[in-house]
Amino acid sequence: MKVIKVLLAITFVTIIIVSCLGEKKKNESALANSPQEKLYAVFDDSNNLVRPKDYRSWVFMGTASTPKSQDPNVIFPDFQNVYVDPVSFTYWKIHGEWREGTIIVKELLRQGDTVSSVGHGFFQGAHFEVAASVKDSKRFPTMHNGWNYFGFADFKKLKLNETSIPLGAQCAGCHNNNAIDGDVFYQYYPVMLAAKGYGDGNPENENTRPGLVEDYQHYKAIKEYIKNMKTQK
Ligand code: HEC
Repeated sequence: MKVIKVLLAITFVTIIIVSCLGEKKKNESALANSPQEKLYAVFDDSNNLVRPKDYRSWVFMGTASTPKSQDPNVIFPDFQNVYVDPVSFTYWKIHGEWREGTIIVKELLRQGDTVSSVGHGFFQGAHFEVAASVKDSKRFPTMHNGWNYFGFADFKKLKLNETSIPLGAQCAGCHNNNAIDGDVFYQYYPVMLAAKGYGDGNPENENTRPGLVEDYQHYKAIKEYIKNMKTQK
């Protein structure tokens, strides 16, 4: 009798756990596929992007910096902090693709201090620019995969504008030629690589995926790996 009671209890608990997991999965995909899913990119009637606000509470993709001390010819010698809207991040985790409406914000910060208590290096300084890229194939049918680009700083007036015209080819050329999918440089964002299912595991979920490469300095290796994944599908 006691054994039956224990078995019943185990079955009951298992059912609850399985149904909770199922519910979580359902919610995630409902969020990513629902036509009412929240869009964070807001446009005015002339296809100008309204300056995104509160992006610092979105998902942080990573930071890049190309200091002039490493290369005097660099065109962006500052820090670039990159954020993606949270619904698009969830979609990315499930599908490994960018959803229509994805908005990515890159904020630029000057190099601040170069000395600290732990040694010499590069530390972030003053904020001075907000740029963004948005995937919207209906709005921008001639752009590669619908991605267009925006910048908000008025460097003469030293302020951020409230809207930006689509900057199109002046930004897109470099992204199209060099970004891993011709749009977003996610080869430099371990957060996004891990969420897509490769990279050296996803610390967010304490996952232990087999390592792709020993380090992320192997751009070509990552490209090759992705190509192989596609042909295996
Ligand atoms: C010469 C190449 C080049 C040009 C031109 C360029 N970008 Fe980028 N962009 C990059 C690289 C490399 C990264 C990734 C690393 C980083 O942040 O520097 C990047 C990252 C970004 C990101 C973050 C998402 C991503 O794709 O990684 C945004 C947003 C962005 N750029 C917007 C712009 C805008 C707006 C312009 C035009 C004003 C522009 N870019 C012009 C090379 C370029």
